[in-house]
Amino acid sequence: AYRAEVGMERSDRSKVSDGMVVVGDPQLLENKKAAIRNAGPGKLQVIADFDATLTKYRINGCCGQTSHNLLQQSNPEYDIKRQELYEYYHPLEFSPIIPIEEKTKLMVEWWEKTHALLIEGGLTCDDIKKSVESATIEFREGVFELFEFLEEIGVPVLIFSAGLADIIEEVLRQKLRKSFKNIKIVSNRMIFSKDGHLVSFKGKTIHVLNKNEHALDMAAPLHDHLGGNDGPINDNASVKKRTNVLLLGDHMGDLGMSDGLNYENRIAVGFLNDNIEKSIGNYQEAFDVVYLNDAPMWGVVELVSQIC
Ligand code: C5P
Repeated sequence: AYRAEVGMERSDRSKVSDGMVVVGDPQLLENKKAAIRNAGPGKLQVIADFDATLTKYRINGCCGQTSHNLLQQSNPEYDIKRQELYEYYHPLEFSPIIPIEEKTKLMVEWWEKTHALLIEGGLTCDDIKKSVESATIEFREGVFELFEFLEEIGVPVLIFSAGLADIIEEVLRQKLRKSFKNIKIVSNRMIFSKDGHLVSFKGKTIHVLNKNEHALDMAAPLHDHLGGNDGPINDNASVKKRTNVLLLGDHMGDLGMSDGLNYENRIAVGFLNDNIEKSIGNYQEAFDVVYLNDAPMWGVVELVSQIC
């Protein structure tokens, strides 16, 4: 019935070819699916990373942009300064030899310097709109249908990112052209002055290595920013009661996004976008399902239709 509702044709689903998906332990996955299905959609929530998980990793052969690097300030000098920081810190983010405490300090440093440059450079709401309009960023095929189905059955989606909440919201607005009441963004949120200039950031900085800490406490409903109505699924307490989780991520670190929850069952779906041969072993062990080669979201749509 669901497939008929969203108009998803067999030809669309078959775009997820066999070579694109790996399931390490099919029996374990079936058991988790059965447990989640039996508990019903009232117990389920979806927690998804944003960059390269909901969005495509590559667009026309080039890397798609992230919420951070799509930003273009009216003052281009500051874009250059942020790019210099990126070139210095990004390799450190992925360095296998820096101890975790040291790396955490470096990441805090990177995020704080970047946020400071955005403020100093006088980023405006208008810069955000224009940057998203000209950005190389696209949702994976099937993301809209996934959100629609989850909204229909009242399952909340938490988009959890070390990027920038305001940019993610603008991307949702421009690319999906629909406000979903079941979606919440947990990410770094900007505060603007009355004349529309960025003046500070709200709360604790979320960087790649602390995504799991205090995360649920920071959740702010999307409708605060898009003008929707409040409802029970936007309540943090009710989110905590949803003890079955479908987690979507592209980094091993994304598995920590559900740490704030005492979950009963979790199906983790990983999008392995790069270094496939080197990483497939680890991904296959850590995630229940692994999608390769920038696969569309149709497999996840199908999975949700099986567990709800
Ligand atoms: O995966 P998630 O959306 O949570 O992470 C944000 C990503 O943004 C990081 O992997 C990091 O490489 C990138 N970033 C960036 N510029 C910054 C800070 C982070 O491109 N100033």
